[in-house]
Amino acid sequence: MELIKSIVEMQKISNDLRYNGLKIALVPTMGYFHEGHLSLMRYAREKAHKVITSLYVNPTQFAQNEDFSKYPRDINRDFRLADETGIDYLFLPSNEEMYPPEFNTFINIKGISEKFEGKSRPTHFNGVATIVAKLFNITHPHIAIFGQKDYQQTLVIKQLVKDLNFDIEIIVLPTFREHDGLAMSSRNVYLSEDLRTKATIIFETLTKAKDLIIAGEKNAHKIIEFMRNNLERVRELRIDYAVAVCAENLEEKPDFESNDKVALLIAAYLGSTRLIDNMLVNVP
Ligand code: PAF
Repeated sequence: MELIKSIVEMQKISNDLRYNGLKIALVPTMGYFHEGHLSLMRYAREKAHKVITSLYVNPTQFAQNEDFSKYPRDINRDFRLADETGIDYLFLPSNEEMYPPEFNTFINIKGISEKFEGKSRPTHFNGVATIVAKLFNITHPHIAIFGQKDYQQTLVIKQLVKDLNFDIEIIVLPTFREHDGLAMSSRNVYLSEDLRTKATIIFETLTKAKDLIIAGEKNAHKIIEFMRNNLERVRELRIDYAVAVCAENLEEKPDFESNDKVALLIAAYLGSTRLIDNMLVNVP
């Protein structure tokens, strides 16, 4: 595996790969790899001739009061894991490389990026869309692979690709979970042992809400009420949002209909750690 730190060098490599007719897969990450990241890389390995993983903790997607400076980092471990997974290039740019002092362009996607995560973290998706567009222009992938855990992010990126005509296929893979259902996330390391155990209430709530829909409940208010009540059983948990919306565009609807695809979305604080998770359900 080659470690690339310079944008110009990465662009030259990806241009040469394309010139030679090779298919490139990009797996964008912020590092501190867990099985979720590695499963995206393994999938990429199967689908393309060359796999580029980017590792960059993007400052512009964190607000002032968020965890940018304490976001977990372990470059040596990440390098080893990416290498063992058989990826070809690890792109590891510096902040100076990505955002030089004269940097002045931000992508603002309306609609889909304004609700839920966008409401709680108003500048978050501008940062995500901007960095993802930069990564696309630096690595020139044919396919880019993301995890479903950040479900709204995947919709924002699809909108970006559509609106700005990136000729890139976006692939979304199911969330990787711990043995007890907790969605894998680099942020799980922030949880104390006690809160780590209690965090399973999120997956439990999603699973039970899914069962409720499959058993015939179509009323969004009742599904949401169930989700909130179940989450509130954990005293240390503070709900940011818990919703049942249309999976395609995150639109709210009073009643779902047969064949609708519903996204159950949860964001909640356990102590000071903010966790998100989701589940998709086809209404019978
Ligand atoms: O999902 C993430 O890890 C980040 O938001 C991404 C897509 C790598 C952009 O920084």
